[in-house]
Amino acid sequence: MFAISLGDGAELRPVEPWQAEEFLEHIERAREYAGPWVPLTVNVKDVESARAVLQNYADKQAADTGRLWAVRLDGTLVGGVLFRIFDTSTESCEVGVWLEPSAAGRGLISRAVEVLVDWAVEERGMHRVEWLASSANHRSIGVAKRLGMSRDGVLRESFPWQGVRHDMEVWSVLAPEWRARRAADHR
Ligand SMILES: CC(C)(COP(=O)(O)OP(=O)(O)OC[C@H]1O[C@@H](n2cnc3c(N)ncnc32)[C@H](O)[C@@H]1OP(=O)(O)O)[C@@H](O)C(=O)NCCC(=O)NCCS
Repeated sequence: MFAISLGDGAELRPVEPWQAEEFLEHIERAREYAGPWVPLTVNVKDVESARAVLQNYADKQAADTGRLWAVRLDGTLVGGVLFRIFDTSTESCEVGVWLEPSAAGRGLISRAVEVLVDWAVEERGMHRVEWLASSANHRSIGVAKRLGMSRDGVLRESFPWQGVRHDMEVWSVLAPEWRARRAADHR
């Protein structure tokens, strides 16, 4: 199966319904850290619900409306990056991410999302890549900034989750901005 190297022993790989048990084990390691921000990591509770999430993303991939990949570190599944929305009619997509805590603080997500945005913009003709994060989620906002995204605005108290009405910040990067940034990186 293909893998894209993220450097330092990290890889981006597909994750499919037959890997539900391994996915669940990873989610159990990630839940406490990611649960306040990523409902998927709370909603996956057993092998059945893990398989359902992976099947949902396999179906989205087949329909070209979303995708999910695993981040692996030295072979272990340590995180996920996904297109929650992938809308070719508006040329707009939304990226979501999480890690288990042992894999945070190494730049893995920034590098993985760069691969996703490159693919979305250069191969798939996406014009806009969105990133939604609670105003309270400083690490996630840090990723959006690191990727050179702009803060479009705030959907005030739009996301009730675990007893908190989160203000959701919308960040985005547009294709010409992304290309300019990549060109500057390679100068
Ligand atoms: C959001 C989340 C994925 C960010 O993870 P992360 O590891 O901080 O993000 P990155 O991969 O971009 O890594 C950046 C960190 O690695 C450090 N780093 C180390 N080596 C690096 C490198 N080679 N390149 C870039 N950053 C590097 C950076 O300094 C930064 O750490 P700092 O914020 O303490 O300065 C993670 O905190 C998480 O899973 N949170 C819970 C779930 C969640 O909130 N998901 C997002 C919902 S919107």
